[in-house]
Amino acid sequence: MAELGHEVVGVDVDPIKIANLSAGRAPFFEPGLGEMLTKANASGRLRFSTAMADVADSTVHFIAVGTPQKHGGNAADLSYVNAALDGLIPFLKEGDLVVGKSTVPVGTAADLAAKLAASATGATLAWNPEFLREGFAVQDTISPDRLVYGVQEGPKGLQAKAILDNVYAVALSNETPLVVSDYATAELVKVAANAFLATKISFINAMAEIAEATGADVTKLADAIGHDNRIGRRFLNAGVGFGGGCLPKDIRAFTARAEELGLGESVAFLKEVDSINLRRRQRAVAMATESLGGSVNGRRIAVLGLAFKPNSDDVRDSPALDVAVQLKGLGGDVICHDPEAMANARSKHPQLSFADSAADAVTGADAIIVVTEWDEYKQLDPAAVGEIAQGSLVIDGRNCLDMAAWREAGWEYRSMGRPDHDR
Ligand code: UGA
Repeated sequence: MAELGHEVVGVDVDPIKIANLSAGRAPFFEPGLGEMLTKANASGRLRFSTAMADVADSTVHFIAVGTPQKHGGNAADLSYVNAALDGLIPFLKEGDLVVGKSTVPVGTAADLAAKLAASATGATLAWNPEFLREGFAVQDTISPDRLVYGVQEGPKGLQAKAILDNVYAVALSNETPLVVSDYATAELVKVAANAFLATKISFINAMAEIAEATGADVTKLADAIGHDNRIGRRFLNAGVGFGGGCLPKDIRAFTARAEELGLGESVAFLKEVDSINLRRRQRAVAMATESLGGSVNGRRIAVLGLAFKPNSDDVRDSPALDVAVQLKGLGGDVICHDPEAMANARSKHPQLSFADSAADAVTGADAIIVVTEWDEYKQLDPAAVGEIAQGSLVIDGRNCLDMAAWREAGWEYRSMGRPDHDR
């Protein structure tokens, strides 16, 4: 927002995060974010604070706190959203706009709007879901592929739209599509988009299961169906499946909300989407076990990748980290590497061992398993790796390596949904 020319104050309850941000240090790895933060801090348009009172001069108040999966359940935990609004209310004034960014179950905005109306501050609420992807967050924020405003009917809604049009003036001048709707639609757009993406990935992973049993190649299948513009090739990469802080918990929260509404049947398929997704991690572990003669116990396995996707240090619900933990649990001598996510992985799973480099991880390994498709791993030279590894088994959990090159260099190359032998 500061990059786009607005005067911004960022508030968080975590003093360490605020101190880091004020010093220009991004609290997580995200390409381009550190540079942009330094520039925005220097511009004088961006400052950070732990004191809610510092929002008093602002007109637009984004709520962008997390809505994680509830402990012991599938629903979303709304306590942070509620706390943020409660904290804001004493500092709101007539004409202010509170803008919800957090991913919430449908119906939440209406509840928050009622709370806001009862506060008699004169402020209104809009719901403005966020579609940025980790790894492309800067680009997706500056140039979003669409904007959605969920607003009230009548003059309050028109006023909210006018304020948001001003906030997003740069994107709108570049003809970014805009959909203006009621609250419920705006909330649903977000979860529907993530549910669709998760379904697309699980669809191709289901095809991978069939391909594995029949000798077909899921990557060629994806290319061929992807040429149909109605289907499209993106998000049809089979492998160990989806993870992260969004897709897995969003499909579960959506299912929980639909069940609350008595509409569980409408999204019952999302349970299958979740199951297919979790099965692929098991499949990767089973493939390693089977290929190592029935047990990984005592075998040295290099796990390349821990982040849920490349260009991120996020290990929340990461298939890669899960595979590493499962192999370790089965007695494997697991040594992990990730270019960015090792610190986060270590704090969650200190029982794992970590190597300083991919080369160190593969040295002496009986098997290598690639579970996050970082460029660094795609560029590994199979002949050079063959010189330092002990065994010759490589499992490509993301279908990202050059199959022919690895086989030519003498590796037993196995992957997700592709035949085990060249035809
Ligand atoms: C996702 C959505 O793509 C964003 O639009 C949304 O704003 C965000 O969630 C959110 O709700 O905040 P993100 O979690 O950053 O973004 O990650 P994705 O790029 O969607 O990837 C999710 C997972 O799917 C990753 O683990 C990735 O490896 C996996 N994936 C992706 C596949 O297994 N196959 C594919 O073909 C594509």
